[in-house]
Amino acid sequence: MPFDAGSAQRLVWPPRATRARIATKNGGRGIMRIVLMGAPGSGKGTQAKKLVADFGYPQISTGDLLRDAVARGTEFGLRAKSAMDNGQLVTDDIVLGIIRERLAEPDAAGGFILDGFPRNLAQAQALESLLAEMGTPLDAAVLMDVEFEILFKRLTGRRTCGSCGKVFNVHLMPPKEDGVCDGCGAADLVQRSDDKEETISKRLEVYQRETEPLIDHYKNAGKLKVVDADGDVEDVYGRLKEATGLAGS
Ligand code: AP5
Repeated sequence: MPFDAGSAQRLVWPPRATRARIATKNGGRGIMRIVLMGAPGSGKGTQAKKLVADFGYPQISTGDLLRDAVARGTEFGLRAKSAMDNGQLVTDDIVLGIIRERLAEPDAAGGFILDGFPRNLAQAQALESLLAEMGTPLDAAVLMDVEFEILFKRLTGRRTCGSCGKVFNVHLMPPKEDGVCDGCGAADLVQRSDDKEETISKRLEVYQRETEPLIDHYKNAGKLKVVDADGDVEDVYGRLKEATGLAGS
């Protein structure tokens, strides 16, 4: 489905009741709209889940939405699968269609965390048009900054629970019992199909070529925050909350 920013004008954005509910849940901090950027394995998903748990903003991950579409065998999923398996970006029309639908859902009206989107300049510009028409500009684009050498270890070691979605790392954050999820007890820890070494290299190349230019884009727009994303997950989270003004909450 092609992206149609014009139809976004029909949305009432955000409904007053939703604004009040979110403001109560997150201690009166109101609406927060952020982009989490960073190379594959920089910890976007890990940190987004912590913000969801503490502040209630929905995590909108294009990677998760695409993997779900692939698993369900939808038209979007069938078109996205080979690009994902090869470490390439899925075409903008698919991704923008998915994002537009997701941002129109009621829970996104009170703010959101975009994880892995936008990933190139065209996506960033389309997002800006969509949010401008809704009158809801982005608050910040946060770069999760990690040395490339660390990313390989994170990605090759990642295992995800096929039952509840909890993420582990066999090298860095293993489950208490080998192969068993600490969260739900299922013995169903799986490796993502694009976490093979050869695909990881391609994903990192694509990140450098397509996504890194967004760092200057958001810097020039005065929206860029850089977080040192190396080190303990809790320490990184503390730095992320500082950068987004959520510290102390
Ligand atoms: P996507 O799912 O977005 O993958 P990605 O950007 O490559 O990012 P990852 O999910 O691999 O890493 P992450 O930064 O979330 O790290 P995580 O927290 O999991 O995209 C997949 C594919 O979908 C793309 O290649 C593309 O084909 C397609 N796609 C998605 N969005 C698209 C878009 N907008 N346009 C076009 N195509 C798109 O952590 C990784 C590991 O490290 C885990 O094991 C974790 O436990 C561990 N870890 C995390 N933090 C730490 C820490 N501080 N210390 C130690 N270990 C840590």
